Amino acid sequence: MAENFFDLTGKVAIVTGTSRGLGQYLGRALARSGADLIITSRSKNSLSGFQAEIESLGRRAVPLELDVTDLQSIKRFAQEALAAFGKIDILVNNAGCNRRKPALEVSWEDWNTILDTNLRGTFFTAQAIAPAGPATTRRWVSRFIVAAVAVTGRRRGSAPGARRRGHL
Ligand SMILES: NC(=O)c1ccc[n+]([C@@H]2O[C@H](COP(=O)([O-])OP(=O)(O)OC[C@H]3O[C@@H](n4cnc5c(N)ncnc54)[C@H](OP(=O)(O)O)[C@@H]3O)[C@@H](O)[C@H]2O)c1
Repeated sequence: MAENFFDLTGKVAIVTGTSRGLGQYLGRALARSGADLIITSRSKNSLSGFQAEIESLGRRAVPLELDVTDLQSIKRFAQEALAAFGKIDILVNNAGCNRRKPALEVSWEDWNTILDTNLRGTFFTAQAIAPAGPATTRRWVSRFIVAAVAVTGRRRGSAPGARRRGHL
């Protein structure tokens, strides 16, 4: 019988940025396929509803704080994530932000916020988590990473677009 590649029973998945939006969709899909989850926000309180939803599916959901613009937060998160389950199988680097405005109105601060979050944050979160992942990810980090890559319009997506092209 063919192996079921969609069965994630026994797997542990991190989905960053799960307080709302796409992170919750992605986390829900992984949990429905059998994975236990580590869910994140900069404020743990905002995760209680989603944690309850995932647990109602019969999966475990461990809420942790993570700010991907803060290296110490990333390092602390990586330690806590590994301690929670003893292993990590999947990392979905979903945490991200945007400043929806025309390119001519994007400020220096907007650009830095978006790139610091979406590009630098994605890379250093993966770097911190990779040692806890499957052995191959230590050499081939990019295979371990799933990023919610931005699909953006030309007028309003200059900084998220730069993130996509600067990606791993
Ligand atoms: N929506 C779209 O049309 C679209 C299209 C393509 C790609 N994307 C990408 O998909 C991802 C999710 O988009 P979304 O629309 O679902 O966004 P969203 O609703 O604004 O949610 C963003 C999530 O990221 C977290 N986050 C923001 N800044 C963070 C930081 N500095 N550190 C850690 N977590 C942070 C937020 O958590 P807290 O605020 O609770 O900390 C929240 O859970 C983003 O990377 C975005 O670039 C979105």
